[in-house]
Amino acid sequence: MKHYIGVDLGTSSIKLLLVSEQGEILRSISREYPIYYPKSGYSEQNPKDWWNAFLDGMKELLCGIPADSVRAIGVAGQMHGLVILDERDTVIRPAILWNDGRTEKQTAYLNEVIGKDTLFAYTGNIAFAGFTAPKILWLRENEPQNFEKIKKIMLPKDYINYLLTGVHCTDYSDAAGMLLLDVKNKRWSKEMLDVCGVNECQMPKLFESFERVGHIKKELADLLGISRDAVVVAGAGDNAGAAIGTATVGEGKCNISLGTSGTIFVSSDSFSGDAAQAIHAFCHADGGYHLMGCILSAASCNKWFCDEILNTKDYKTEESAVKAERLGKNEVFFLPYLMGERSPINDVNATGLFIGLRPSTARADMYQAVLEGVAFAIKDNLEIIKRFGVDVKSSCLCGGGAKSKLWREILANVLDIELNIPVTEQGPGYGAALLAMVGAGDLASVREAADQFFSIKETVKPDRALSALYAERYEKYRRIYPAVKNLYQNMK
Ligand code: XUL
Repeated sequence: MKHYIGVDLGTSSIKLLLVSEQGEILRSISREYPIYYPKSGYSEQNPKDWWNAFLDGMKELLCGIPADSVRAIGVAGQMHGLVILDERDTVIRPAILWNDGRTEKQTAYLNEVIGKDTLFAYTGNIAFAGFTAPKILWLRENEPQNFEKIKKIMLPKDYINYLLTGVHCTDYSDAAGMLLLDVKNKRWSKEMLDVCGVNECQMPKLFESFERVGHIKKELADLLGISRDAVVVAGAGDNAGAAIGTATVGEGKCNISLGTSGTIFVSSDSFSGDAAQAIHAFCHADGGYHLMGCILSAASCNKWFCDEILNTKDYKTEESAVKAERLGKNEVFFLPYLMGERSPINDVNATGLFIGLRPSTARADMYQAVLEGVAFAIKDNLEIIKRFGVDVKSSCLCGGGAKSKLWREILANVLDIELNIPVTEQGPGYGAALLAMVGAGDLASVREAADQFFSIKETVKPDRALSALYAERYEKYRRIYPAVKNLYQNMK
């Protein structure tokens, strides 16, 4: 009997999976932790909270499991977060997360003074406020005493891997989101490190996602009741991890995730990117590359509207109030920019917005507009991906939002593509478990693992008439942001 552990270090919780050698999820445990918003636009977490949640969850996950059956652990995690350690390997300050918007000035400096073309030449990407490099610049300017103390820079999931193994490591898929990696050539960009005032010794060692970084430390293996031979693989950024879990590997496959963030991810064998396009060009966890558009608020818009505004946790009732005949006809539009926006508008000052309200507007129209607004924002990114010559006809759909039947239908028709819903809903953690299988030497390659264990539960097909109605709606939606862009700037 062989077991593998796949971990998803998410923004609201950590999810741990125990997976069998047949790829079956035997157990799934999750633990929540807080997110702190110390100022408007700021978003932080305490890395110690991640670790405590991990340890606590592992104890439950492994209860009754024979120690020597656990072959390997893989961790996928929220990307771009800045975790800094001092010379005693102590965390210097709370992690600054992927959806933090404090770096407007530093992002503008990178894109306008260093210049997008130069950034692209160094890294294959341009700067976005959530990326790690602008956060390092912010720290240098605003917390010089902390900046001076930095011995190691790492990403959220790398902190867990470091505590597990004692190795300062990261993987290419996650490192790509730092804006410090020369993505095409898979090496740290000396030029970008210079721009940020850091050096290569402060950076973690680079690995492919499926490579072993080491063994679990003896004392931890004993504490958790795992064999001391259990290996830890480098793991992946959560989107690359989810893509492995949905067999989005090789050339031209697509995965859409409706999690706290929303992403559209297209895998490819070779590097492509473009300085003029606000889309990410990153490494993939299968050893290849991918293009990705990321919206900062997706399922979080649904959660916000229900929990905070409608004061309900009963999402099903809200969903069932939206009648089929109202789809494609909503007069209300919603811009889902609750945390500012990443791609394609790259605007930290953007905020959520409803437009089109009248005395006849019902609660259900506003709820529908929230789900539609997220779908339109994903479409903004799909339109850019198409400019790279990628013809997306179908996509996998994963993440918490994929559970909503209504949202799936709206998304399939807004994007006018087929959406495949996987049998296994576990996203990044499942992909991380497959990486662990490969790292343990029990499967030959990530692509083999992905294809072997993936199957589709259901396909949602767009309806021609409804897609046409949504195409008209989208033409209206896409005119809203340009009309309010300057207003956002003046209202901060
Ligand atoms: C991707 C991104 C988000 C986080 C969320 O670029 O910022 O998807 O990884 O966990």
